[in-house]
Amino acid sequence: MNYSSMSKEQLLEQKAKLEKEYDGFLNSGLEINMTRGKPCVEQLDLAEGMLKEISSNEDCFTSKKFDCRNYGLVDGLDDAKRLFSPIIGVPWNQIIVGGNSSLNLMYDAMARCMLYGVAGGNGPWVKQDKVKFLCPVPGYDRHFGICESLGIEMINVPLLGDGPDMDVVEELIKDEAVKGIWCVPKYSNPTGTTYSDETVKRLAAMKPASKDFRIFWDNAYAVHDLYEDKKDELIHILPECEKAGNPNLVFIFASTSKISYPGSGVSCLGASAENIEHIKSIMQMQTIGHDKMNMLRHVKFFGDAEGVKAFMKKHADVLRPKFEICIEKLEDAFSECGAATWTKPLGGYFISLDVPEGCAKETVAMAKKAGVVLTDAGATFPYHKDPKDSNIRIAPSFPPVEELAKGMDVLCVCVKLCAVNKLLENK
Ligand SMILES: Cc1ncc(COP(=O)(O)O)c(C=O)c1O
Repeated sequence: MNYSSMSKEQLLEQKAKLEKEYDGFLNSGLEINMTRGKPCVEQLDLAEGMLKEISSNEDCFTSKKFDCRNYGLVDGLDDAKRLFSPIIGVPWNQIIVGGNSSLNLMYDAMARCMLYGVAGGNGPWVKQDKVKFLCPVPGYDRHFGICESLGIEMINVPLLGDGPDMDVVEELIKDEAVKGIWCVPKYSNPTGTTYSDETVKRLAAMKPASKDFRIFWDNAYAVHDLYEDKKDELIHILPECEKAGNPNLVFIFASTSKISYPGSGVSCLGASAENIEHIKSIMQMQTIGHDKMNMLRHVKFFGDAEGVKAFMKKHADVLRPKFEICIEKLEDAFSECGAATWTKPLGGYFISLDVPEGCAKETVAMAKKAGVVLTDAGATFPYHKDPKDSNIRIAPSFPPVEELAKGMDVLCVCVKLCAVNKLLENK
């Protein structure tokens, strides 16, 4: 029976039963971490072969005989650009390959906008009265952290089943202070949403009031499908921008963090030729080049983008049972009582759980007390403020399946107990 149609007596009965279950977990010494989307050890072990790709002086050269041990190539190896090109849909010579973190490239891109401005723009954003950024919510906490740390005002935009609410976006970009939008277009963090063709085309064709406007297109999960036979397809945005006469509108980011190693992968930034020239001219004051030996290791190990895609099937085999156990537990727990809704992503690293309004913080706190640590409630919104206090991000990748199952049992009981208590407040 659905909680919302229960009488006070029935709810009190549920409460007593759930409290007993919860108390049982409190004393069972659980220590389960479901906070961040980290690959598990089994996944990290998949790329062991990469560690052996460079083991002698002779191994240190690119296909064009460039010696990767030495200085140079501020924008990275051509071979590494070619590896990323089909994945992000950008010509190889319009790509910069960076260090191990795309977040680093995104932070630098935003900092450059603030300090120098964009190609063909109105100069440094810091010199303008106000800088605002659109943030589809729920979204990735670290994107919001970048804006917050640089003093950029964030505006929430609802993330719908096919991407950001474009009616809202098209209205907000009439404000000249709005300088950009964060997008995780495929298997979005945390909902798993993939933008529809129509949404991508509408974004690419936007005519913002500010000529500084940039889409920060974080394609972190471009090749991270869980299933062979059902996967989301995302169209490439740069060709759409070009068709719409907006070639400079987008910065595209990706990395191999969840392909090879988060601690030692390779990242990239793709954009129009004009954007890339502008970025490179500033970047060469910052570095003489990123870690080319690691780029070379990746090129040798994967070969090409098809090699990357084939390799990702091994990750899927590890991750799929973890996502499936989470969904199974959620269905078992909530299909009758109706105390939560959740997403069922076909890829990426997260499941987004929505609990009754005003229950997320309390749920996460209760789970923590029982030894199950989740991402802080509110983290999926700018300024850590979930206006409904209802969104919880589930990160299934790191714990082993049995632990994850236990963790989900705890989480589900906590959600139910909070939901019942909330309903009782009004009885
Ligand atoms: C959407 C998104 N972008 C970027 C990152 C981090 O990428 P990187 O490791 O390349 O810095 C993550 C990690 O969780 C993510 O979810």
